[in-house]
Amino acid sequence: MTVKIAVLVSGNGSNLQAIIDSIEKGHIKNAAINVVISNKANAYALERAKNYGINTVFLDPCEYDKDGYDRTILKILNQYNTDLLLLAGYFRLLGNEIIELYRNRVMNIHPSLLPAFKGLHAQKQAFEYGVKVAGCTVHFVDEGLDSGPIILQRCVPVLPGDTEETLTARILEQEHIIYPEAVRLFTEGKLKIEGRNVVT
Ligand code: GAR
Repeated sequence: MTVKIAVLVSGNGSNLQAIIDSIEKGHIKNAAINVVISNKANAYALERAKNYGINTVFLDPCEYDKDGYDRTILKILNQYNTDLLLLAGYFRLLGNEIIELYRNRVMNIHPSLLPAFKGLHAQKQAFEYGVKVAGCTVHFVDEGLDSGPIILQRCVPVLPGDTEETLTARILEQEHIIYPEAVRLFTEGKLKIEGRNVVT
Protein backbone atom coordinates (compact mmCIF):
# COMPACT_ATOMS: atom_id res chain seq x y z
CA MET A 1 0.00 0.00 0.00
CA THR A 2 1.25 3.47 -0.88
CA VAL A 3 1.31 5.96 1.99
CA LYS A 4 -0.23 9.16 0.62
CA ILE A 5 1.58 12.24 1.88
CA ALA A 6 0.51 15.90 1.92
CA VAL A 7 3.00 18.63 2.81
CA LEU A 8 2.33 22.11 4.20
CA VAL A 9 5.00 24.70 3.44
CA SER A 10 5.65 28.43 3.62
CA GLY A 11 9.12 28.98 2.21
CA ASN A 12 12.21 27.51 0.61
CA GLY A 13 11.21 23.88 0.92
CA SER A 14 14.63 22.32 1.40
CA ASN A 15 13.11 19.77 3.79
CA LEU A 16 10.43 19.00 1.22
CA GLN A 17 13.25 18.49 -1.29
CA ALA A 18 15.07 16.10 1.05
CA ILE A 19 11.91 13.99 1.36
CA ILE A 20 11.29 14.06 -2.40
CA ASP A 21 14.91 12.94 -2.93
CA SER A 22 14.52 10.07 -0.47
CA ILE A 23 11.42 8.86 -2.28
CA GLU A 24 13.11 9.24 -5.69
CA LYS A 25 16.14 7.25 -4.49
CA GLY A 26 13.93 4.53 -3.04
CA HIS A 27 15.07 5.11 0.54
CA ILE A 28 11.43 5.80 1.35
CA LYS A 29 9.40 3.09 -0.36
CA ASN A 30 5.65 2.78 -0.82
CA ALA A 31 5.04 6.48 -0.37
CA ALA A 32 4.05 9.36 -2.63
CA ILE A 33 3.66 13.07 -2.07
CA ASN A 34 0.27 13.83 -3.58
CA VAL A 35 -0.08 17.50 -2.79
CA VAL A 36 1.94 20.44 -1.45
CA ILE A 37 -0.05 23.29 0.08
CA SER A 38 1.40 26.73 0.82
CA ASN A 39 0.14 29.79 2.65
CA LYS A 40 2.62 31.90 0.66
CA ALA A 41 2.12 32.47 -3.06
CA ASN A 42 5.84 32.84 -3.76
CA ALA A 43 7.10 29.91 -1.67
CA TYR A 44 9.96 28.28 -3.59
CA ALA A 45 8.73 24.97 -2.18
CA LEU A 46 5.86 25.17 -4.71
CA GLU A 47 8.37 25.31 -7.58
CA ARG A 48 10.24 22.34 -6.17
CA ALA A 49 6.99 20.34 -6.06
CA LYS A 50 6.01 21.33 -9.61
CA ASN A 51 9.42 20.12 -10.86
CA TYR A 52 8.34 16.62 -9.85
CA GLY A 53 4.79 16.87 -11.15
CA ILE A 54 3.38 17.11 -7.62
CA ASN A 55 0.06 18.96 -7.30
CA THR A 56 0.38 22.33 -5.61
CA VAL A 57 -2.17 24.58 -3.94
CA PHE A 58 -1.71 28.13 -2.72
CA LEU A 59 -4.27 29.00 -0.07
CA ASP A 60 -4.37 32.74 0.55
CA PRO A 61 -4.91 33.38 4.28
CA CYS A 62 -6.49 36.75 3.41
CA GLU A 63 -9.42 34.97 1.77
CA TYR A 64 -10.56 32.97 4.82
CA ASP A 65 -11.10 33.27 8.54
CA LYS A 66 -9.02 30.86 10.64
CA ASP A 67 -11.69 28.12 10.71
CA GLY A 68 -12.44 28.47 7.01
CA TYR A 69 -8.74 28.20 6.21
CA ASP A 70 -8.32 24.96 8.14
CA ARG A 71 -11.55 23.52 6.76
CA THR A 72 -10.20 24.15 3.27
CA ILE A 73 -6.94 22.40 4.13
CA LEU A 74 -8.99 19.50 5.51
CA LYS A 75 -11.01 19.26 2.29
CA ILE A 76 -7.79 19.02 0.28
CA LEU A 77 -6.37 16.39 2.63
CA ASN A 78 -9.55 14.34 2.20
CA GLN A 79 -9.59 14.88 -1.55
CA TYR A 80 -6.13 13.27 -1.75
CA ASN A 81 -6.96 10.51 0.79
CA THR A 82 -4.03 11.71 2.87
CA ASP A 83 -2.44 9.23 5.28
CA LEU A 84 0.39 11.43 6.55
CA LEU A 85 0.60 15.22 6.80
CA LEU A 86 4.04 16.83 6.99
CA LEU A 87 4.73 20.38 8.13
CA ALA A 88 7.94 21.42 6.41
CA GLY A 89 8.76 25.00 7.27
CA TYR A 90 5.07 25.85 7.65
CA PHE A 91 4.77 29.08 9.57
CA ARG A 92 1.16 29.01 10.62
CA LEU A 93 -0.60 27.27 13.46
CA LEU A 94 -2.57 24.23 12.44
CA GLY A 95 -6.18 24.09 13.69
CA ASN A 96 -7.18 21.61 16.37
CA GLU A 97 -9.72 19.87 14.15
CA ILE A 98 -7.03 18.74 11.72
CA ILE A 99 -4.79 17.67 14.61
CA GLU A 100 -7.63 15.66 16.14
CA LEU A 101 -8.65 14.00 12.87
CA TYR A 102 -5.03 13.26 11.92
CA ARG A 103 -3.83 12.36 15.44
CA ASN A 104 -0.36 10.77 15.27
CA ARG A 105 -0.31 11.31 11.51
CA VAL A 106 0.99 14.89 11.46
CA MET A 107 4.74 15.50 11.74
CA ASN A 108 6.75 18.69 12.08
CA ILE A 109 10.45 19.52 11.86
CA HIS A 110 11.73 22.10 14.32
CA PRO A 111 15.25 23.58 14.34
CA SER A 112 16.03 23.06 18.02
CA LEU A 113 16.45 20.28 20.53
CA LEU A 114 12.92 20.36 21.90
CA PRO A 115 11.64 21.14 24.46
CA ALA A 116 14.22 23.93 24.30
CA PHE A 117 13.55 26.95 22.10
CA LYS A 118 10.02 26.42 20.89
CA GLY A 119 8.36 28.80 18.47
CA LEU A 120 9.83 31.18 15.96
CA HIS A 121 13.56 31.77 15.29
CA ALA A 122 14.67 28.75 17.29
CA GLN A 123 18.23 28.89 15.98
CA LYS A 124 18.52 32.57 16.97
CA GLN A 125 17.11 31.79 20.40
CA ALA A 126 19.68 29.00 20.88
CA PHE A 127 22.56 31.11 19.55
CA GLU A 128 21.71 34.06 21.76
CA TYR A 129 21.25 31.81 24.79
CA GLY A 130 24.84 30.65 24.34
CA VAL A 131 24.21 26.91 24.16
CA LYS A 132 27.18 24.70 23.27
CA VAL A 133 25.03 22.08 21.57
CA ALA A 134 22.10 22.81 19.26
CA GLY A 135 20.08 20.61 16.93
CA CYS A 136 16.75 19.68 15.43
CA THR A 137 13.70 17.60 16.21
CA VAL A 138 11.04 15.73 14.25
CA HIS A 139 7.90 15.32 16.33
CA PHE A 140 4.26 14.44 16.02
CA VAL A 141 2.04 17.50 16.20
CA ASP A 142 -0.39 17.91 19.08
CA GLU A 143 -2.46 20.89 20.21
CA GLY A 144 0.47 22.61 21.92
CA LEU A 145 3.30 24.65 20.42
CA ASP A 146 6.10 22.29 19.30
CA SER A 147 5.05 19.99 22.13
CA GLY A 148 4.09 16.64 20.58
CA PRO A 149 5.89 13.29 21.05
CA ILE A 150 9.47 13.37 19.78
CA ILE A 151 10.33 10.98 16.94
CA LEU A 152 13.97 11.77 16.15
CA GLN A 153 16.57 14.35 17.18
CA ARG A 154 20.06 15.21 16.04
CA CYS A 155 22.51 17.51 17.74
CA VAL A 156 25.28 19.70 16.33
CA PRO A 157 28.03 21.59 18.13
CA VAL A 158 28.08 25.36 18.37
CA LEU A 159 31.62 26.19 17.28
CA PRO A 160 33.86 29.17 18.05
CA GLY A 161 33.32 31.82 15.39
CA ASP A 162 29.80 30.62 14.60
CA THR A 163 27.17 33.11 13.59
CA GLU A 164 23.45 32.54 13.68
CA GLU A 165 23.71 31.81 9.94
CA THR A 166 26.48 29.19 10.16
CA LEU A 167 24.68 27.48 13.03
CA THR A 168 21.40 27.51 11.09
CA ALA A 169 23.11 25.88 8.10
CA ARG A 170 24.69 23.18 10.31
CA ILE A 171 21.31 22.39 11.86
CA LEU A 172 19.57 22.33 8.46
CA GLU A 173 21.99 19.66 7.18
CA GLN A 174 20.82 17.40 9.99
CA GLU A 175 17.16 18.26 9.37
CA HIS A 176 17.58 16.90 5.85
CA ILE A 177 18.71 13.58 7.35
CA ILE A 178 16.20 13.08 10.16
CA TYR A 179 13.01 14.24 8.44
CA PRO A 180 13.20 11.69 5.60
CA GLU A 181 14.29 9.08 8.14
CA ALA A 182 11.22 9.76 10.31
CA VAL A 183 8.98 9.53 7.23
CA ARG A 184 10.63 6.23 6.27
CA LEU A 185 10.02 4.81 9.76
CA PHE A 186 6.37 5.90 9.57
CA THR A 187 5.81 4.42 6.13
CA GLU A 188 7.34 1.13 7.28
CA GLY A 189 5.03 1.06 10.31
CA LYS A 190 7.98 1.28 12.69
CA LEU A 191 6.78 4.14 14.92
CA LYS A 192 4.83 3.12 18.02
CA ILE A 193 3.56 5.82 20.35
CA GLU A 194 3.47 4.95 24.04
CA GLY A 195 2.34 8.05 25.91
CA ARG A 196 4.91 10.71 25.11
CA ASN A 197 7.38 8.11 24.03
CA VAL A 198 7.82 7.19 20.37
CA VAL A 199 9.41 3.78 20.14
CA THR A 200 11.20 2.92 16.88
C1 GAR B 1 13.65 24.73 8.75
O1 GAR B 1 14.81 25.08 9.45
C2 GAR B 1 12.60 24.24 9.72
O2 GAR B 1 13.10 23.49 10.77
C3 GAR B 1 12.05 25.54 10.23
O3 GAR B 1 11.99 26.37 9.09
C4 GAR B 1 12.99 25.98 8.16
C5 GAR B 1 12.32 25.67 6.85
O4 GAR B 1 13.28 25.42 5.87
N1 GAR B 1 10.76 25.39 10.82
C6 GAR B 1 10.38 26.04 11.91
O5 GAR B 1 11.06 26.86 12.48
C7 GAR B 1 8.97 25.71 12.37
N2 GAR B 1 8.76 26.18 13.70
P1 GAR B 1 12.86 24.77 4.48
O6 GAR B 1 11.65 25.57 3.96
O7 GAR B 1 14.06 24.97 3.63
O8 GAR B 1 12.51 23.32 4.71
